[in-house]
Amino acid sequence: MKNVIITIDGPSGTGKSTIARILADKLGYTFLDSGALYRACALAVDQLGADIDNDAICKEIISNIKIDLDHDRVFLNGTDVSESIRTPHVSALSSRIAVLPSVRRLLLKLQRDFAQKTSLVAEGRDTGSVIFPQADVKIYLDATSQARAQRRFLELAAKGAAPSYTQVLNDIEERDHRDRARTCAPLVVPDHAVVVDTTHLNLEEVVETVFKIVRERLTD
Ligand code: C5P
Repeated sequence: MKNVIITIDGPSGTGKSTIARILADKLGYTFLDSGALYRACALAVDQLGADIDNDAICKEIISNIKIDLDHDRVFLNGTDVSESIRTPHVSALSSRIAVLPSVRRLLLKLQRDFAQKTSLVAEGRDTGSVIFPQADVKIYLDATSQARAQRRFLELAAKGAAPSYTQVLNDIEERDHRDRARTCAPLVVPDHAVVVDTTHLNLEEVVETVFKIVRERLTD
């Protein structure tokens, strides 16, 4: 039987990971968190103190690392880095490394290899536009930058390490700009994607909306 591919793209803070994870669990599919791959690459380069903006250097480093995803956990060369890839520092570095064409090429192959083995829900910035343009269902989650900053701010505050709301908003807008302006696989609404604006929706409402779209599309 053919593996099913569902993609969820959109800017940071729209709840893509949470929604994709819930959807994958409900359907019994594998969850592919593509942002975690960029984060693990950024951490690997940062740990070596290398230049995160240098395509050739990053390519060399990333060609020689091993990234594994196991449900919610992310492993870099066998070490669990699930927490260390989520710091604001690594968030900023990950959107810088994500503009590098060689890095995107390496991660493109890794992501497509996943889909050979299993049905999956993939989330990121280019999963429906570049990685899996043939996906069975494509969703694009959106929200205003203020709503996204507010969510991220509350998340960080709950962890006890909150920068100010303004700082979070600035970081989000900076990352949005880099993701949308890059020449290689910029953040766009993929062809045939269904756009869901989550600005005024809570988590349950987004899950319900997305699940309904998926059910309708898969039945078609
Ligand atoms: O989604 P998350 O915030 O974990 O992604 C971290 C960074 O990785 C993003 O800011 C984005 O620049 C980059 N990314 C990307 N393409 C993807 C997933 C993430 O460029 N498919």
